[in-house]
Amino acid sequence: MTIDPQRASPQDTYRLLTSCVVPRPIALVSTVSIDGIRNVAPFSFFNAVSAEPPIICFCPSPRQPPKDTLVNVRKTREFVVNIVSEAMAEAMNASSAPFPPDVDEFEMAGFTPVPSEAVTPPRVGESPVSLECRLHLIVEVSDRPFGGTLVLGEVVRFHVQDRVLRNGRIDADLLGAIARMGGIDYSRTRDRFSMRRPGA
Ligand SMILES: Cc1cc2nc3c(=O)[nH]c(=O)nc-3n(C[C@H](O)[C@H](O)[C@H](O)COP(=O)(O)O)c2cc1C
Repeated sequence: MTIDPQRASPQDTYRLLTSCVVPRPIALVSTVSIDGIRNVAPFSFFNAVSAEPPIICFCPSPRQPPKDTLVNVRKTREFVVNIVSEAMAEAMNASSAPFPPDVDEFEMAGFTPVPSEAVTPPRVGESPVSLECRLHLIVEVSDRPFGGTLVLGEVVRFHVQDRVLRNGRIDADLLGAIARMGGIDYSRTRDRFSMRRPGA
């Protein structure tokens, strides 16, 4: 099968992309509004971009009114990316509901806000790893309904819970991160294999 996206509907193209770019890691992004309302929402268009300096990205899609996360990041230039473990799956999913901007989404989802060190938004206490970020750059990629805005953030603090460390390093089994597949499917990160790079 060969598909020309110019001839496919945006919805079919979205389905195609999200079922072949898998598994996608999940950034549970915490922010605060300029009125101090706490917000938390998951984004699976998420990845690492650079390690020097450490830069990560995530991509909110357009919505009217715009998603609270993007509004808050634009105004405050700060956010925290919290890694999602399996134990957090239900609450993470609950936090994706379209709550109005004046609702504290930590409370709605049942997450524990823990003060951050270098930024105002709290991190999620249940998360095994949290990355405090300052906004690096926003790239308006497409404002069409299935478009997206690329948000790049510099990590200014890493918080790693001791319980996921083995010999001083993050252990994938202890981390237990989950990832997004196509449709309503998720994956675990337990089924792995190792392979050395040539010349390494
Ligand atoms: C696992 C998961 C991944 C998601 N990934 C994205 C994403 O990458 N981009 C996006 O715009 N919305 C994504 N969503 C939907 C948002 O979380 C949802 O629109 C949310 O209401 C946004 O919240 P906010 O208005 O508080 O920012 C995802 C939802 C789930 C459950």
